Amino acid sequence: MNSNETSKILIAYFSYSGNTQEIALKINEMVGGVLFRIEPAKKYPESYQDVLKVGKDEIIRKYRPPLKKKLENIEKFDVIFIGSPNWCKTIAPPVVTFLSVHSFSGKRVIPFISHGGGGKDSCVTDLKKMIPKATVLEAIVVYGNHIETISRKMLKL
Ligand SMILES: Cc1cc2nc3c(=O)[nH]c(=O)nc-3n(C[C@H](O)[C@H](O)[C@H](O)COP(=O)(O)O)c2cc1C
Repeated sequence: MNSNETSKILIAYFSYSGNTQEIALKINEMVGGVLFRIEPAKKYPESYQDVLKVGKDEIIRKYRPPLKKKLENIEKFDVIFIGSPNWCKTIAPPVVTFLSVHSFSGKRVIPFISHGGGGKDSCVTDLKKMIPKATVLEAIVVYGNHIETISRKMLKL
């Protein structure tokens, strides 16, 4: 792939405890592209017990937390990797906000999910429902931060 092609790749991710970020960095190392960290305007609590409570509550209420910043130039990317931890069997609320405030029409999207044992659960089906005009390719599903399980074949580029 030449640099012109890799510049059209975006790797956008939310990570609470760092695992999804490690996957994003690994993908970036393997395919290049631009990294974008999705961050909620209001930080989640630091204690695991509290984030479980807040996260679950937001998911039940279908709350879309405002983000710290919007990505200005999504139109210039052709391939978009979107990363989320599995939160209560679905994608994390900041990723839901990210998907709802940008246009994914005509984009090739590759989801990547970090989980704590549940696999992708409904993460990918829920993501697909939010961006029906995108072509969503097979997801990269990683247990915790086991980035050694990511192969070039999974990146499908
Ligand atoms: C609020 C919350 C809900 C979670 N729910 C699930 C779940 O339903 N299934 C699962 O396998 N892991 C679940 N986990 C574990 C995370 O998916 C796992 O630790 C992941 O690697 C975290 O990624 P991160 O370090 O990028 O935040 C949950 C974690 C949190 C904080």
